[in-house]
Amino acid sequence: MHRKLVVANWKMHGSLTANRQLLEEYIQRLKSLKNVDVVVCVPYPYLAQAQSLLQETSIAWGAQNLSKDKVGAFTGEVSASMLRDFGATHVIIGHSERATAYCESDENIATKFMQAKAHGLTPILCVGETLIEREAGVMEMVVAKQIDTIISMYGASLFANTVVSYEPIWAIGTGLAATPDQAQSMHEFIRGRIAACDQEAANSLKILYGGSVNPQNAVQLFVMQDIDGGLIGRCSLIAEEFEGICRAAN
Ligand code: PGA
Repeated sequence: MHRKLVVANWKMHGSLTANRQLLEEYIQRLKSLKNVDVVVCVPYPYLAQAQSLLQETSIAWGAQNLSKDKVGAFTGEVSASMLRDFGATHVIIGHSERATAYCESDENIATKFMQAKAHGLTPILCVGETLIEREAGVMEMVVAKQIDTIISMYGASLFANTVVSYEPIWAIGTGLAATPDQAQSMHEFIRGRIAACDQEAANSLKILYGGSVNPQNAVQLFVMQDIDGGLIGRCSLIAEEFEGICRAAN
């Protein structure tokens, strides 16, 4: 089993005032937890604030997206090296809320994953199926395609020391988390898919579960063999709930 990783995904929430209060609470509540890594992925404009408030703490920070390009005439985009400038260590890639709303293709997502890694950021690749796909029994096929695009474009070794987050779309923000068995089974599938091409990369990969994780269900999820932590949306906005999840991981 890996050391657990808990990642807060604030999505499009926050303000300078609210963030300061939330981050100060995170720092107080999490400082005694020594056996879990914690990262908070903030909206771009607040990277500098995260950097200044978190730099002397054990909490790392990151972003929720990045450009697939290195530099150039791409209005509104933010590059991997810009994220590095603000001390970001992690970046979420291909979250379903982006993939659907902004029509991100698996190929674009794969290039972003490569770009993050090439610049020393740890990419957190989100994969997962819709409810219709699960009901049709094709969830493994759907997730395999997302993983295989990266393997075929860049090779399975790119997954070494990165993070994949299994996020069934039907579980995100719905209050209806996957059961520990459903999540474990998909996590095992993901690790196996990568192991078939590169065993070492698969061993070093962390696989998080995301989708309605809360302090009540976190322990049952985190004890599963292939669940290395969680990607937390709603509960990361409430310091007490986030602490509960981090304690479960610790
Ligand atoms: P949720 O979001 O915890 O609010 O379900 C998870 C996510 O979208 O990463």
